[in-house]
Amino acid sequence: MLGLGIESTCDESSIALVEDGKKLIYCNTYSQIKQHEVYRGVVPEIASRAHLEKLNHLLDETLSKTGIHLSQLDYVSVANQPGLMGSIMMGAQLARCISFVHTIPLVPVNHLEAHLSVIRLEEENSDVEFPILGVLLSGGNSAIFLQRDWGDVSKIADTLDDALGEAFDKAAAILNLGYPGGPCIEKEAEIFIINNPQHSRKDFILPRLLKSDSADKIQFSFSGLKTALLYAMREREQEVDQARLIGQLSYEFQKVSFELVTRNILKSVQATGIRSVVMGGGVLANSALRIELDKLSQDHKVRIMYPKSKFLCTDNAAMIACLGYYKFRKGQTFALDFPISPRGQFTLN
Ligand code: KG4
Repeated sequence: MLGLGIESTCDESSIALVEDGKKLIYCNTYSQIKQHEVYRGVVPEIASRAHLEKLNHLLDETLSKTGIHLSQLDYVSVANQPGLMGSIMMGAQLARCISFVHTIPLVPVNHLEAHLSVIRLEEENSDVEFPILGVLLSGGNSAIFLQRDWGDVSKIADTLDDALGEAFDKAAAILNLGYPGGPCIEKEAEIFIINNPQHSRKDFILPRLLKSDSADKIQFSFSGLKTALLYAMREREQEVDQARLIGQLSYEFQKVSFELVTRNILKSVQATGIRSVVMGGGVLANSALRIELDKLSQDHKVRIMYPKSKFLCTDNAAMIACLGYYKFRKGQTFALDFPISPRGQFTLN
């Protein structure tokens, strides 16, 4: 079964072809980062205009590179929620046109649920069975979900303030690093720990997150850490070796925030008894986080899955076509006037 995926919820325009929900044939993504980096964040109007310019070209290129014609598609899938309204509209209109002209069933899907399904494109995870715990760490979300079936998803933990990716972006701004912040902080942290392998907790400038483990609640919060980082930089303005300081703070910021992630995963496993954890979102591209997760998995005998290919962690259309396959098999197709929404709800029907 051949499916086309369209993603345009934020700042990536992407088109993909997927076979039987598990084989990625082609994924063609254009990242708008260069257009937004001067503003250190995504500008909605720029984003929708860029989608309008790029989506058709990405589609043409995908078809000509694979030799596939639109009439061969079994379904066309598009992310219709959540995200930037104008941006979602661009992808939705393209999906509607393809569906109308070639009489192909339309499968609108939730972008967040798609992040949690993309691991099925990698062979070792194609067999994952429900229920699962889904952990999303991206620019807009730090949340844990309980997923019992396709579309049957409930949120069990959220952030009180920033999403983790957003916290990385803001931290990078404080440290005078580039945008997006995640990869810049990761690079600085890597260099720092290679040069300072003895650096341990007792040397930390930054405080631990949620020092007292009193909170039974499973929740994320990064604003305290961000403020601590800001003050640490201000208080050390006169320090001669600013490069070392930035490296150290980057390393500590990662270490402390990832501790909260692993702690919340463990708490969720203990609270629900579910030992299959599926993760997705841009922050999962971070190699230090992957090491912490692999360790957690081994130490506590929990199956933790995240996309091995880093490009599948960030926004892409492969995940949309993948989730579309499972929804299509459940008969969840919609008419041309399917709804779109900036906010997410998991059950569409
Ligand atoms: O899922 P995603 O591509 O899209 C949005 O949510 O918009 O996530 C983007 C976020 C950004 O905030 C970025 O700083 C973060 O993911 N990110 C990372 C890394 N690569 C991207 N965070 C930490 N380490 C990384 N290597």
